[in-house]
Amino acid sequence: MGVAEVSEAPPVLVASNRGPVSYTLADDGTLTARRGGGGMVSGLSALGSAAGTWVCAALGPGDREAAARAGTGTLEAADTGGQSVRMLDIPPDIFDAAYNGIANSVLWFVHHLLYQTPLEPVYDSAFESQWAGYESYNAAFADALAAEAARGAEVLVQDYHLALVPALLRERRPDLRIGHFSHTPWAPPDLYRVLPDAVARQVLRGILGADRAAFLTRRWARAFADCCADLLGARVRDVPEGTAGTDAFTVTLDGRTTRLGVHGLGADGDFLRERAHRPDADERLAALRAQVGDRRTIVRVDRTELSKNIVRGLLAYRRLLTEHPQWQGRVVHVAFAYPSRQDLEIYRAYTAEVSRVAEGINAEFARGDWTPVVLHVKDDFARSLAAYRMADVALVNPIRDGMNLVAKEIPLISEQGCALVLSREAGAAAELGDDALLVNPYDIAGTAEALHRALTMPADERRARAGRLARAATALTPRDWFLAQVEALRGS
Ligand code: G6P
Repeated sequence: MGVAEVSEAPPVLVASNRGPVSYTLADDGTLTARRGGGGMVSGLSALGSAAGTWVCAALGPGDREAAARAGTGTLEAADTGGQSVRMLDIPPDIFDAAYNGIANSVLWFVHHLLYQTPLEPVYDSAFESQWAGYESYNAAFADALAAEAARGAEVLVQDYHLALVPALLRERRPDLRIGHFSHTPWAPPDLYRVLPDAVARQVLRGILGADRAAFLTRRWARAFADCCADLLGARVRDVPEGTAGTDAFTVTLDGRTTRLGVHGLGADGDFLRERAHRPDADERLAALRAQVGDRRTIVRVDRTELSKNIVRGLLAYRRLLTEHPQWQGRVVHVAFAYPSRQDLEIYRAYTAEVSRVAEGINAEFARGDWTPVVLHVKDDFARSLAAYRMADVALVNPIRDGMNLVAKEIPLISEQGCALVLSREAGAAAELGDDALLVNPYDIAGTAEALHRALTMPADERRARAGRLARAATALTPRDWFLAQVEALRGS
């Protein structure tokens, strides 16, 4: 189905916690809009006039003020790049319970397998009130979507923040076609059962309220289907590959069937190549080059996120320097770790730990003008792209990750064709595994050896692999990824 055909149908709505724009409020009351990037933004804009409203949460004081000035309507199109955006002003205590509490401290931890002694789930009265907050937050989205959507419209609901929305929206508006997309991994049943039974079932039933629920890899779709069979007694069927486009499984419960699809989001090659060569990226590249000299580089770029496994990555680099001392003075680890979810104590502690370990390595090994680790913890997109350009080796070692776009972006942008050391637990490994050097993310010694192999890989082989990685990385552009979901939902 082409874009023209899509345009003739009712508008397509998107719902997500974080929207395509955010506002800052100056002391004099001026609001400044900052547009975000990402697959959903370019995908929705590809729909032209068929793009309906994007419903998201107001995330800070600027967003709240913008939402208040817009009343219950949509924000200024000039700020949002023409996209119709409606920000929900969720009461702060409800937002905190839903976002920091249930979404980021419980569901995120379960799907990324981050619960380990001494960090264990606690289901006390605080959890109960957070869960009630999560229910209200999801209901607020369902109400807003029910009010916004034209008859028969498609609604694409995003991620673990909004797992209850599909079922709540179906109750309110059975005429709609509802899709849900999980950008995270999905936990296998034995680990998913860590959640309280009623909560675990409610989340599954919430997503099964969709006509179609989609995932980044077949592995995560399979785990979701297994959880539905195990906890709800749902009937799961495989859709033989190649028979029904992007559908992988069907799940039938109480006489209703939800299709499970797989769409492996790729990198936005055209945008990144152009953006990486603007003057601000050139300037930052020159500054980094001056710092690193003609040494080899191992590059990583992440949010300071526990699942990204940054500390083990640093320890693997340290081990590379001790086990293969010939690299001392000849390689620099460029590690950009941008603060994320800093309202949560465990994320603040992790951010501090990343800095402490990097400083420890520098204190132990630095000599002359060689600084072994160049760590930056402030978000700067142009600087990240500059680092991509100079990468000899990309290190992407998450404990688990839905996809990990950095693994796709660095080989695409690296000027000399980099080698990729990649966790086998990242969704991207399903697509890039043949040409990446795969590692067990817990295995520090194994990761150090993979870094050594990457650094010593013959240039021809490295370039050939990087070329194939770049092609695989852009196989499904964000625009096509989005349109394929709309098309599949229309086929429901
Ligand atoms: C992951 C989630 C997204 C989320 C992003 C950034 O990729 O799947 O839904 O937006 O992390 O996290 P944040 O909490 O800053 O929105």
